[in-house]
Amino acid sequence: MRFLVLGAAAGGGLPQWNCGCTNCVDARRGAIPPSSQSSLAVSMSDGNWSILNASPDIRAQLAANPQMHPCALRHTPIRSVLLTNGDIDHIAGLLSLREQTPFELLATTEIHDILVQNPVFRALSRDKVVRRAIVPDADFALQDGLTARLFPVPGKVPLFMEGETVQTDLIGGQTVGVRLTGGGRTACYIPGCADVTDALLRELADVDLLFFDGTVWDDDEMIRSGTGAKTGRRMGHVPISGEDGSVARLAGVAARKVFIHINNTNPILQPGSPERAEVLAAGWQVAQDGMEITA
Ligand code: MLT
Ligand code: MN
Ligand code: ZN
Repeated sequence: MRFLVLGAAAGGGLPQWNCGCTNCVDARRGAIPPSSQSSLAVSMSDGNWSILNASPDIRAQLAANPQMHPCALRHTPIRSVLLTNGDIDHIAGLLSLREQTPFELLATTEIHDILVQNPVFRALSRDKVVRRAIVPDADFALQDGLTARLFPVPGKVPLFMEGETVQTDLIGGQTVGVRLTGGGRTACYIPGCADVTDALLRELADVDLLFFDGTVWDDDEMIRSGTGAKTGRRMGHVPISGEDGSVARLAGVAARKVFIHINNTNPILQPGSPERAEVLAAGWQVAQDGMEITA
């Protein structure tokens, strides 16, 4: 199973258009690598790829990676696109895939409903882009030789669908992780997760490779840095640090572990930071655009 990180950043990317935080300034001046918005590609055989989440940066991501280029006048190696929630950073890229080339669009009914409610997605013609509803907790074929299963993780509805009160620990079809099995190996991809529950630990007990939500280091990172008013958990993202953070809670998971969906405020983006040293010492890797990993 081959993975290609198309975009390692959370919504907004690095640098984010309106942000002057240290990381964004450093990314603009070339001191740290820039990073595009949340997307991961997976392949079991040459010339066949599935895209996990379609970010607003997908056009540049596909251009930057030769594996994603067409091999004929009208062609794509992309067989399917799978969505793990309905957030803008995971669905807006669908609009860039509208030029009449077939692929399969896979998601839970909750996530498909968001696309149905937003008529702009009619730009993906239904006779070319077949929409398939995936039932959580049941195996399905993502591409030849690659079996997938979606499993609910704690999360919330997309920001643009939030009402006056927001439940951040919803367990259902609106936020899912993906389990992938191929060639005798198993990988999980969970770019958004509000809490590491015991059920999630059981799900991860036997995986070889884990891509996990690395949005924020600290729950109150955006408040402290003056870049926002919400905690990580309020945004549907468990922080990396702390007793209930992902490093501590996932310490017993024996997989190769990679943080992905990293917000531009996160200090692990700085090569010399103590926070980055801490995650590396705990056995984690930090995803970057263009990173290739074989499970
Ligand atoms: C998130 O993961 O929290 C979302 O991408 C937020 C957003 O829509 O910008
Ligand atoms: Mn996001
Ligand atoms: Zn920033």
